Amino acid sequence: MNAIMFALPGNEQMAGDLAGLLGIELGRTEIRRFPDGESYLRIDSEVRDRTVILLCSLDRPDEKFLQLRFLAATARDLGAQAVGLVCPYLAYMRQDTRFHPGEVLSSAHFARYLSDSVDWLVTVDPHLHRRHSLAEIFSVPAAVVHAAPRISAWIRENVPAPILIGPDSESEQWVTEVADGAKAPYVVLEKVRRGDRDVEVSLPAHADYPGRTPVLLDDIISTARTMIAATLRLKQANLPPPVCIGVHAIFAGDAFAELTRAGAQRIVTCNTICHPSNGIDVTALIAEEIRKLTG
Ligand code: R5P
Repeated sequence: MNAIMFALPGNEQMAGDLAGLLGIELGRTEIRRFPDGESYLRIDSEVRDRTVILLCSLDRPDEKFLQLRFLAATARDLGAQAVGLVCPYLAYMRQDTRFHPGEVLSSAHFARYLSDSVDWLVTVDPHLHRRHSLAEIFSVPAAVVHAAPRISAWIRENVPAPILIGPDSESEQWVTEVADGAKAPYVVLEKVRRGDRDVEVSLPAHADYPGRTPVLLDDIISTARTMIAATLRLKQANLPPPVCIGVHAIFAGDAFAELTRAGAQRIVTCNTICHPSNGIDVTALIAEEIRKLTG
């Protein structure tokens, strides 16, 4: 494959692993901030007539997006044949409707900005709720990797007699697939979110799963209020402390410590966003999708 991969800051570990799996060169860049906060970027590897693959997980997107766009544009200026983006976490997908008059439809706009910047992208479990496919908002090929097989395998190896618990109806799509792969029963709870940090979760009446270890599963853990509310509900119902699994480890502010304090037995995430809780590796799944797009 005549491709070269570049890591945006913070993505070096996965870029090295992916380049190794794909047998491609890892490119060099110089990326830093000027004292006034503007970005300085330089591509220091040959990209002419090659497929350039940029790796940038898009948590905290506002501080990353412009550098990503600059790098993609520069790769083209320097003669790249195509520019692809691997963003293991795709931001702004939860803003998929106007909840209040005048709000920005961020998911559609962000998808358009990315489509304008790159020729294709690969991401992992984007938050698709009111939209069913990335093709509804992206005008370039957008491939989706599903972490479910890896999460199921992790549960089979690490949790005896699990019961999978989805904290809200949006998590059902992940929970059913993971439960199937883990050969475990599942239940989906009901959630009401009144604000960023104001979340209530209800258990079904007579929730009792004798001999089972609760495994809470969600796609995104951001403030962790969803996981915390569910963990506290399980405690109230005298169920054992849950194992909490998230695909994307955003953990805003003190969220990780707060979830630990609320009584999570263990917190494990996929390595789509670099975080100490990463315990489920999806790199090989991403490599497979890149091969399909560039092969
Ligand atoms: C939304 O429905 C998502 O699936 C997650 O439940 C949500 O993003 C979690 O956010 P937080 O950790 O802030 O409660």
